[in-house]
Amino acid sequence: MKAAVTTQAGPPHTIQTQDVPKPQAKAGWVLIAVKACGLNRSEMFTRQGHSPNVVFPRIQGIECVGTIENDPSGTYGVGQQVAAIMGGMGRDFDGGYAEYTVVPLANIFPFTSNLPWSTLGAIPEMFQTVSGSLNDALELKSGETLLIRGGTSSIGMLACQLAKHLGATVISTSRNEAKTQFLKDNGSDYVVVDEGSICKQVRQIYPNGVDKVLELIGTRSLKDSLKCIAPKGMVCMTGILGNEWTMKEFTPMGDIPSMGRLTVYMGDVENLDKQSLQAFIELVEQGKISLNIDQVFSLDEMAQAHERMESNQAKGKIVVAI
Ligand SMILES: NC(=O)c1ccc[n+]([C@@H]2O[C@H](COP(=O)([O-])OP(=O)(O)OC[C@H]3O[C@@H](n4cnc5c(N)ncnc54)[C@H](OP(=O)(O)O)[C@@H]3O)[C@@H](O)[C@H]2O)c1
Repeated sequence: MKAAVTTQAGPPHTIQTQDVPKPQAKAGWVLIAVKACGLNRSEMFTRQGHSPNVVFPRIQGIECVGTIENDPSGTYGVGQQVAAIMGGMGRDFDGGYAEYTVVPLANIFPFTSNLPWSTLGAIPEMFQTVSGSLNDALELKSGETLLIRGGTSSIGMLACQLAKHLGATVISTSRNEAKTQFLKDNGSDYVVVDEGSICKQVRQIYPNGVDKVLELIGTRSLKDSLKCIAPKGMVCMTGILGNEWTMKEFTPMGDIPSMGRLTVYMGDVENLDKQSLQAFIELVEQGKISLNIDQVFSLDEMAQAHERMESNQAKGKIVVAI
């Protein structure tokens, strides 16, 4: 079979298309014919060599969609549409950047849909992350205000659409003023240009502060995001777009406002459930959620797809169709 193999840690061209043996399903695992996979920033970091436990060469890809080719357990029939995410996929064992992949049964989410594979490929990890952050971590409710810091990221744009669907009011940020209309077209009620500190701008819109913040830039902007919340408001750090994992100084009684709440979301396979994935796919089919897909690449173009992500030019999810 054909696979995009990350031959060693390094720049995008370390990913090369190769002919490799087609994997076989063993007991408790299933063989999937991969139709598409979404690209994730964590895959870019792994390729760059920032995942010390990942050994190269490796077929990366922490998620994919496709059809069942062989399930020795008999749980799923041949041809069943499925998504597979995480649980070590593309890191501890080979993942979705290939014509076929073998994953544990626990990583499989069946669904039925007539959407194009390139659309379905954008969904699993993005939906798991956004739904987990908004519903499980932030417990966002209708009528609340949500600040999305890192609003132009694919996670940020889907978060805006799901938050609007829930009945929230959304402020989205970008460092780039030219993306303002783009964010408004995606549903944001307000757009704030982020030059490092935005709490004054946010309090001009909501003097009392916002109810919830989805923090996707990470430790660089976390203290400023905490300054944006209303009494008993909550910040959930889900992303680290700012590339800084550790804060140099953090003073809980000072940086967190009195009775303010700070949490993080680090989703994995157990945070997705079959029913909510199918329900979300149906929202997309009905046009109630419109996914932002930046560009669809072929398997041979995996290195270019990684270059596109690294350039920060993408306006939405990058998908590879296989
Ligand atoms: N916790 C979880 O379970 C989980 C799961 C999936 C993803 N994530 C995280 O969620 C975040 C978003 O992922 P994504 O795939 O949606 O990202 P993405 O689409 O690749 O985001 C691209 C955007 O991020 C902004 N950006 C890039 N570098 C930045 C920097 N140094 N400082 C501030 N903004 C920067 C840029 O926006 P502007 O130029 O418009 O400012 C850029 O357009 C990532 O940190 C990812 O690792 C977390």
